[in-house]
Amino acid sequence: MTLRTPICDLFDIEVPIFLAGMGQVAFADLCAAVSEAGGFGTLGMAGSSKDAIRDEMRRVRQKTDKPFGVDLLAALPEQVLEAIDIIIDEGASAFIAGLGVPGPVIERCHRKNVKVMVVCGKVEHARRAEEAGCDGVVAQGTEAGGHTGRIATMALVPQTVDAVTIPVLAAGSIVDGRGIAAALAFGAQGVWMGTRFIATDEARAAHAFKDKIIASDGADTTITRCYSGKPMRVVTNPFVEEWERDPSRIKPFPQQLVDSASAGVMAYAHDAHTDAERTCMPAGQGIGGIADIVPVRELMARLLAETDQVLGRLGRLASA
Ligand SMILES: Cc1cc2nc3c(=O)[nH]c(=O)nc-3n(C[C@H](O)[C@H](O)[C@H](O)COP(=O)(O)O)c2cc1C
Repeated sequence: MTLRTPICDLFDIEVPIFLAGMGQVAFADLCAAVSEAGGFGTLGMAGSSKDAIRDEMRRVRQKTDKPFGVDLLAALPEQVLEAIDIIIDEGASAFIAGLGVPGPVIERCHRKNVKVMVVCGKVEHARRAEEAGCDGVVAQGTEAGGHTGRIATMALVPQTVDAVTIPVLAAGSIVDGRGIAAALAFGAQGVWMGTRFIATDEARAAHAFKDKIIASDGADTTITRCYSGKPMRVVTNPFVEEWERDPSRIKPFPQQLVDSASAGVMAYAHDAHTDAERTCMPAGQGIGGIADIVPVRELMARLLAETDQVLGRLGRLASA
């Protein structure tokens, strides 16, 4: 099945399914697998050194010649400034920023034909991204895994579509073809999916983390500042519950993140360092709809078949 929207031409991809740039999880294997399957792979490189970013981008290139992007956090501007030339020179076709508009590097990216997108939790953020010259925005609802805002996907996506003229991707607990069809119905040109891709063979996440995603219900996540200092949706565990008893002890970003890293609770990609009772496990409310760990190729085929089915059913309803 093919599923094409205008953003497919803009990004030179076959289907408008974007892998979210998940720090520690979306490394070369996962990124390349999504691009190879016709979607858009994104490396989640927040916190990685510029040499590590270069190495990871080269690993992607060894696996695929299809387009891919790199995601960093605009809230860590030193890393963005240090890494942006590598991201451009090593052949990314897009730079995606979480937690803010990466104003100082947009023109540099455009000069080398690298697209820029921003993950937004409010309509106002999307407007700011468009004004700054970004090529697209991700409207990420509060249901999403990782750092997140307070507006639900169902409210945010159509309002963002109405507010900007650049393409909008929908994000936040989209885990199957129903979610993709809903995103398209809201006027989004595609989806930016995180948590669903953690439960794949190629994702670099600890087994305990993947198992939690399979076993958890949609009610098993909490938005907490206890890991980074900014609100982040994670799988609830005793460590989170303890901090949430008195959140006034939590320090601002990025100090809390530095403290959490020192306490050894931020490493969710390595089996040896992941303790499901304490470790940060960013995940969206969509976990309740994820039941298996599959190879990316199989997941992508399934997502497209489900979307086709839903769109067909809706089309029949409309013509009945
Ligand atoms: C494990 C994990 C790590 C994430 N890390 C980042 C990150 O480094 N940068 C970023 O822009 N977004 C990050 N996000 C948010 C994603 O980009 C995306 O917006 C979110 O996963 C979408 O919601 P979903 O997980 O419900 O699909 C992360 C999300 C998860 C689940």
